[in-house]
Amino acid sequence: MVNLQTFEEIKHPMYVLEEARLRRNLSLISSVAEAADVEIILAFKAYALWKTFPIFKEYIQATTASSLWEARLGYEEFGSKTHTFSPAYTDDEIDEIARCSSHLTFNSLTQYERYHQRVRTVNSGISCGIRINPEYSEVETLLYNPCAPGTRFGVRNALLPEKLPTDIEGFHCHTLCESGADVFRRTLTHIEDKFGAWFSQIKWINFGGGHLMTRAGYDIDLLVATLREFHARYPWLKVVLEPGSAFAWQTGELVSQVVDIVGGTDGEPTTAILNVSFTCHMPDCLEMPYHPRVRGAATLESEDVFLPQTTEDGGRSYVYRLGGNSCLSGDFMRSWAFDHPLQIGENIIFEDMLHYTTVKTNTFNGISHPAIGLVRCDGSLEMLRTYSYADYKARMD
Ligand SMILES: Cc1ncc(COP(=O)(O)O)c(C=O)c1O
Repeated sequence: MVNLQTFEEIKHPMYVLEEARLRRNLSLISSVAEAADVEIILAFKAYALWKTFPIFKEYIQATTASSLWEARLGYEEFGSKTHTFSPAYTDDEIDEIARCSSHLTFNSLTQYERYHQRVRTVNSGISCGIRINPEYSEVETLLYNPCAPGTRFGVRNALLPEKLPTDIEGFHCHTLCESGADVFRRTLTHIEDKFGAWFSQIKWINFGGGHLMTRAGYDIDLLVATLREFHARYPWLKVVLEPGSAFAWQTGELVSQVVDIVGGTDGEPTTAILNVSFTCHMPDCLEMPYHPRVRGAATLESEDVFLPQTTEDGGRSYVYRLGGNSCLSGDFMRSWAFDHPLQIGENIIFEDMLHYTTVKTNTFNGISHPAIGLVRCDGSLEMLRTYSYADYKARMD
């Protein structure tokens, strides 16, 4: 049995996925799919822990891939052909991608021209689509905005032929990132304004990811109403959503340990160095960037606070930067306030570390990868994966 508050039994870095939390998300997502009469599929780019696919299959039927390997994973491990979109299909990979896909979306008309006959030769049942660019996205971080000026994603309405090629059966569109239903509703008006004229020629539309329906406060009713109204306007269109984050949102933690404490003299900040790394194991914290929550600590947004603070109730709080174990100078974040001085060996628990982590991590500096564990609903811990020197070495064979 694992203590889910302190993880005191865990003495080494580990991503801990909690089955009960995962099932809560899956159950909500499948109830939205049913209420809105749409298909909701898992985007592997956010989460691809394939040993947990049997749990997913109790709730959803399909997945979405953005590369050959994700398509294979969907076909071989999830057991169904994937909805695939890649901005760059190649001669070397297109046949196998087509074999593994039920739906295949082209990013451009040139990619369509180059490969549409070939994919249908390999897989006569495949349904082809084209990615559209509605030139509207409310995502403020340019790194995550698929409609940023000069984007390489999708075809603008001005460039789409009035009569679509007969084997284009669907539109794919991705414009959201951790967005609410209100953002989707506003975006949809732009999609319809710009591309509604073509809807009579297609059979399906995929509204991409970024629908963060499992976040507290997400307006599920608005999402369902928006989708049902859309369906009433275009009853022949099958609607697909392919979120990633929403599935793994708040399903688990990254448990790490304090290795050393440095600084703290001459007015310098105190840094607790950990046995995990932001750049290797929590890359979005630096890329996005965002300030992750740490269990039992207050997140301090100000960069200037680093001395022990007196709390409102007269107690003391101890302020630390948390530093990674790589040699990247910027592999640290600040600051968190704890109610006690940190001790070497104590657990530091980063909340909500299951989406866009295990799919993006690396072994930069030869740093060992945190293990991946699954806490079953009965509280027992099942190890999904531990890593060794052989994994590091094999990557560069
Ligand atoms: C085409 C596409 N589909 C789905 C997703 C999944 O998005 P999210 O994890 O934000 O739901 C992304 C994310 O980048 C994407 O680019």
